[in-house]
Amino acid sequence: MSFELNELIAARRGENFRLHAEFLNPQLVKVLKTLGMDRFYERGEGCYLYDRSGERYLDFLAGFGVFALGRAHPVIKKALSEAIELDLPNLAQLDCALLPGLLAEALVGKTHAGLERCFFSNSGAEAVECAIKFSKYASRRPRVLHADHSFHGLTNGALSLNGGGEFREGFGPLLPGCDSVPFGDLHQLERELRRGDVAAFVVELIQGKGVYLADASYWDGLQSLCQRYGTLFVADEVQTGLGRTGKMWAYEHYGLTPDMITVSKALSGGYVPVGATLCSAQVFDKVYSKMERAVVHSTTFGRNQLAMVAGLATLQTLEDEKIVERAQATGQALELALAPLVDRYELFKEVRGKGLMIGLEFGEPTSLRLKSRWKMLETARKGLFSQLIVGPLFQRHRILTQVAADNVNIVKILPPLICGQEEVDYFVAALDDVLGDAHRNSSLLFEFGKTLAKSALQRERA
Ligand SMILES: Cc1ncc(COP(=O)(O)O)c(C=O)c1O
Repeated sequence: MSFELNELIAARRGENFRLHAEFLNPQLVKVLKTLGMDRFYERGEGCYLYDRSGERYLDFLAGFGVFALGRAHPVIKKALSEAIELDLPNLAQLDCALLPGLLAEALVGKTHAGLERCFFSNSGAEAVECAIKFSKYASRRPRVLHADHSFHGLTNGALSLNGGGEFREGFGPLLPGCDSVPFGDLHQLERELRRGDVAAFVVELIQGKGVYLADASYWDGLQSLCQRYGTLFVADEVQTGLGRTGKMWAYEHYGLTPDMITVSKALSGGYVPVGATLCSAQVFDKVYSKMERAVVHSTTFGRNQLAMVAGLATLQTLEDEKIVERAQATGQALELALAPLVDRYELFKEVRGKGLMIGLEFGEPTSLRLKSRWKMLETARKGLFSQLIVGPLFQRHRILTQVAADNVNIVKILPPLICGQEEVDYFVAALDDVLGDAHRNSSLLFEFGKTLAKSALQRERA
């Protein structure tokens, strides 16, 4: 029997959740069923996913930021099809293929002077692993700092830089010498750097977990301190990079020149996993100091041609379609349209972020009537209210969003950067509807909250 993808999908359609429960992650299946998010998506295009009954879903999650150009972008599709048709000499390994060179050149060309070399890997976490290894080797220092609440991936090294205890718990001991400093606190940072043993400070310009930002003065100070104490400033641009925040790189908002950057997500065009770590020739040449060390840090699939094609086509499309400028304009339109809701609804405290990386923070209401319901939910499970936004946005309005982190009432949206006024209007009207219900004392929402709390408790007991 020959392999026919269409036939396979047609024959096994609808077995998704059973297969996942049996062979992959049964807990994820339970979570999706509890949230009513157990849908059968059949295809994706632009800002939308479509299920098997043809219903369309506005994807404001964008695969955790992967679909900057939306799904099934025709330029990326065509480039990848061409690459397959060309039978490119993929992964010859003892070879210097053209396309990795071109993508490295293009990436270096999009950054500031001082970032001259590129290492390709397969994911954001791997890009961070590379930054950890390169900075330790080049500086011969043992420690790497990260910020509270940070997220840099879940492999062992990246997890050692993770500011969320819920991810680390039980996986220790992690890498020695990885310590956290409060995000936004220059005094604590200097106290650590002064010891003279810190190879790198790895930090997100906007923290993905919670969408937390720091003042411009923090970033200025951070860069100067790193320079003063000989510590490499590593900007983790895995999520913020390539236009997400309305600039090509988020560090441009603050006029910074980091010593190393990590890139992934959007570079994939939504198709082929890829990671990249950019640094100076000086750092790179210390690691790869002689021929015997030519592959001292490497990975089998790192420069694979499909990833390189997806990356090159993505960079070209960002430019051709003025995606970065569009992200900035649409981000502003969203913030503007959301501002009246913050005034209207006492539960809605703040909209923050940059470009199309936006956090919506909810908090304790002032009126007695809502206060008791809020407290009931918070007692059942901290941060539960945000699920009461994410759930109905999905079920009633078919909009995919996410809770920004554990135990906080922050909803995060990461729309495709190609979205426009239509999507902005639809989202804001939907949020208005859901918040209106919560404020009108609708027991429906709070019943949903109770169901979630109950099943969360059951899950914990199980
Ligand atoms: C800032 C940042 N760094 C690293 C990672 C890890 O990337 P990956 O999931 O591809 O390993 C993420 C993922 O969300 C991220 O947001």
